Amino acid sequence: MAKDDNNLLKKIIAHAKEYGFIFPSSEIYDGLAATYDYGQNGVELKNNIRQYWWKAMVQLHENIVGIDAAIFMHPTTWKASGHVDAFNDPLIDNKDSKKRYRADVLLEDHIAKLEEKIAKEVAKAAKRFGDDFDEEQFVSTNQRVLGYREKIDYIHNKMKEALSTGNLQVLRDLIIELEIACPVSGSRNWTDVRQFNLMFATELGSVADEANIIYLRPETAQGIFVNFLNVQKTGRMKLPFGIAQVGKAFRNEIVARQFIFRMREFEQMEMQYFVKPGEELQFYEEWKAKRYRWHQVLGLGEENYRFHDHINLAHYANAAADIEFKFPMGFKELEGIHSRTDFDLAAHEKYSGKKLQFFDPQENRSYIPYVIETSIGLDRMFLAILSAAYREETLPGGSQRVVLRIPPALAPLQAAVLPLVKKDGLPEKARQIMAGLKYDFNVQYDEKDAIGRRYRRQDAIGTPYCITIDHQTLEDDTVTIRERDSMAQQRVPVAEVRATLARHTDLTGLLRQL
Ligand code: GAP
Repeated sequence: MAKDDNNLLKKIIAHAKEYGFIFPSSEIYDGLAATYDYGQNGVELKNNIRQYWWKAMVQLHENIVGIDAAIFMHPTTWKASGHVDAFNDPLIDNKDSKKRYRADVLLEDHIAKLEEKIAKEVAKAAKRFGDDFDEEQFVSTNQRVLGYREKIDYIHNKMKEALSTGNLQVLRDLIIELEIACPVSGSRNWTDVRQFNLMFATELGSVADEANIIYLRPETAQGIFVNFLNVQKTGRMKLPFGIAQVGKAFRNEIVARQFIFRMREFEQMEMQYFVKPGEELQFYEEWKAKRYRWHQVLGLGEENYRFHDHINLAHYANAAADIEFKFPMGFKELEGIHSRTDFDLAAHEKYSGKKLQFFDPQENRSYIPYVIETSIGLDRMFLAILSAAYREETLPGGSQRVVLRIPPALAPLQAAVLPLVKKDGLPEKARQIMAGLKYDFNVQYDEKDAIGRRYRRQDAIGTPYCITIDHQTLEDDTVTIRERDSMAQQRVPVAEVRATLARHTDLTGLLRQL
């Protein structure tokens, strides 16, 4: 991570805490690693993101319904899904620093350094050749770049071999061969690599017995798969149809860092779309496009998104892609779209002994549907929005402001109601206006400090509109509405305030663009 980007992440973390978005969990006891609490503004933004997703997926699709499954599930669920046997991270310890790392992440970080070297060569050459620079030709002929590329391919191939065969010695040998040192101790004194399961286990009831071990779900998807028939039958659903769910998931992440990007307790928004076998790739493409559009409509910047198509597919998938977002620490996975074949339903059929099939009246036969999954982390989406929204601006008079340019429909508050002074009947008039707005919008009343400072406070939490009540309001029943990003002020009759706010902050405006 470049120094500036690291600084930006630090600033976002500090800002999120100072303005009631995110606090370290149980902070009075010095916090708990990779666990966070959402504060008074954070919870509003999170609720709004959840609403945007839910309405886009469930309300706008006649053939998608939602559920809310329990976090605890029968332990066989996780045997069937493969999580008991294969939801592992390969870990390695440095004997000097006693720090633990994911072996594959150490190797990926090494690859990222080689990629950075390539980017530097390209930038240098672009500067040297100016307008005549042909990047494609340069990267395919420059010896140094080709050398780096060859090394990257070599590491990728070795990693693929190690992870697919489960031969962890290959990973360790590669770490030694590439002379990768511990970032803390600087030494290359590594232990063997071993597998570590990411599921949190706990006990059901009071008897500490193997049979009573249950897991906190590591993904919400399995709650959907095990309810496939319940929903299909009770909702009389025909293929293709989808089941959506938002809920908590838990993973004992070893390398839990980068704020709310990788947490141990987080929230997922997942949708499983059940289709006729053979039609899955058409729907896979459709969902890739639909989900990309959902992101684009927020206006966080087209340049901040890209697709990463998976080349090394999990054994049960026949296509998979990530929507990556440019976080302060670089492009990283924000959402996954996966074509998962009939892997999960077939596995649950086998382990439960219950048929999980759809009777197709046109073909007069039953079969296990194929599944397209869209899966996005709610907390990661929150971080994407905060990262894109955070701006430090110098204003025309030379003063500074920090503003969160959060999409207005998702902002924690839609408006603040501000009497210019705390006397002359202005607070009473402001309260009256508040009372008329509070049923439709999340509005805050603030009369403390000079008006400029109050504007700054609202900018810092991303409130798109400030409604100011002044002496003229008492004469002609008009107020000023100040817009957060342009800071432009407009005089508006009180009777029109509601419609003006609705026009700019209603979620419907986003949904209509999908
Ligand atoms: N059901 C598929 C599934 O769980 P995944 O790629 O492991 O796939 C999906 O997770 C999404 O969940 C990711 O794209 C990411 O946004 C979010 N996610 C995964 N692990 C996370 C973590 N430890 N902290 C925060 N978000 C996480």
